[in-house]
Amino acid sequence: MIQSRASAALRNTSVLARSFRSSAALKTPAPSALSHAPSAPNAKGRLPGGRVIGNEAALQFVQGKREATKDILNEFSLDGKCTVVSGGAGGLGLEIAQSLCEAGAVVHVFDMPPTPSDTFTAVQEYVKALGSRLVYHQMDVSNQDAVFKLCDKIGEEEGGIQGAVCAAAILETYDCCDYPAEAFEKIMRINAGGVLYTSQGVARQMRKYKQAGSIAMIASMSGSITNRDQHWVGYNSSKSAVLQLARSLAAELGPEDIRVNCISPGHFSTPMTEKVFSQNPGLKEKWESGSPMQRLGIHHELRGVAVWLLSSASSFVQGSDVKVSGGYETW
Ligand SMILES: NC(=O)c1ccc[n+]([C@@H]2O[C@H](COP(=O)([O-])OP(=O)(O)OC[C@H]3O[C@@H](n4cnc5c(N)ncnc54)[C@H](O)[C@@H]3O)[C@@H](O)[C@H]2O)c1
Repeated sequence: MIQSRASAALRNTSVLARSFRSSAALKTPAPSALSHAPSAPNAKGRLPGGRVIGNEAALQFVQGKREATKDILNEFSLDGKCTVVSGGAGGLGLEIAQSLCEAGAVVHVFDMPPTPSDTFTAVQEYVKALGSRLVYHQMDVSNQDAVFKLCDKIGEEEGGIQGAVCAAAILETYDCCDYPAEAFEKIMRINAGGVLYTSQGVARQMRKYKQAGSIAMIASMSGSITNRDQHWVGYNSSKSAVLQLARSLAAELGPEDIRVNCISPGHFSTPMTEKVFSQNPGLKEKWESGSPMQRLGIHHELRGVAVWLLSSASSFVQGSDVKVSGGYETW
């Protein structure tokens, strides 16, 4: 009985769906139609932009209430968003900055060099051709007051800041018994303090403009494990601090629809690691052979995860650590 009622309902809905399909082709909505503009605070349980997607969309479709649309890739869109990338002058940060621009965001980079590199200006030109914008600011992220002032200025100019990737960091090697206090304080001030101050600067704008947002902190697998044979107690401890910063901020800011997560890369080939390799012959090969994938990460291999974490596609991901290590810590 129940079965026959269900099949009658299905027959009716598929008749409706057929007539709807004949008048409407499968559509891909413009990214802005999914409204990745920040939702209101406390938008608990809402779909991105209040739009119906997924199974509910399919049910509405078979009832003849809407067209079929390809929504999934548009959930990754950052159209209309303003974001900050610290440490984005080069290395992983610049690759991430470009990926955010390609996804539609305007990106403001905070880094140390007074002027950006040729690669940076090439990326600026490239994203301009895509209709996006990459802006460089010389900024020491360990200066909380200066970071706050710059975030205020960007917020005013852009109408808020809805995302950040905090990638600025340094790496130093000292024997654990001889680590100078000054050097330890410096690495904590930049790697942990700088991530906190950038996140604060950006979250204050989200709060000020009552906008939802997402912050991705670049930690490291070195925050959870110790790299064999490397004397990195300062770096490793600073990255553990980043993991805890993300959890703590996620807990405090979650009610305001502000998401905070970590990305923990494994070994990647960048200026930071090239310096380590030049001082340690054979280390690159050792790291490669120690990984299930038998290679280092390539600098562009954080693009997808960064865009995902800043977009609505990860809308219920909060306080997490996403490891991108080629499986280095699996054994
Ligand atoms: N390369 C790897 O294998 C690897 C692995 C795990 C985690 N990470 C992390 O990824 C992030 C990017 O590293 P990378 O490998 O691209 O190294 P990188 O040295 O190329 O990038 C770090 C950037 O941070 C900037 N920076 C340093 N101090 C700063 C300060 N006080 N204010 C502003 N900017 C500052 C540097 O100028 C540089 O552009 C870092 O957080 C690093 O710890 C890298």
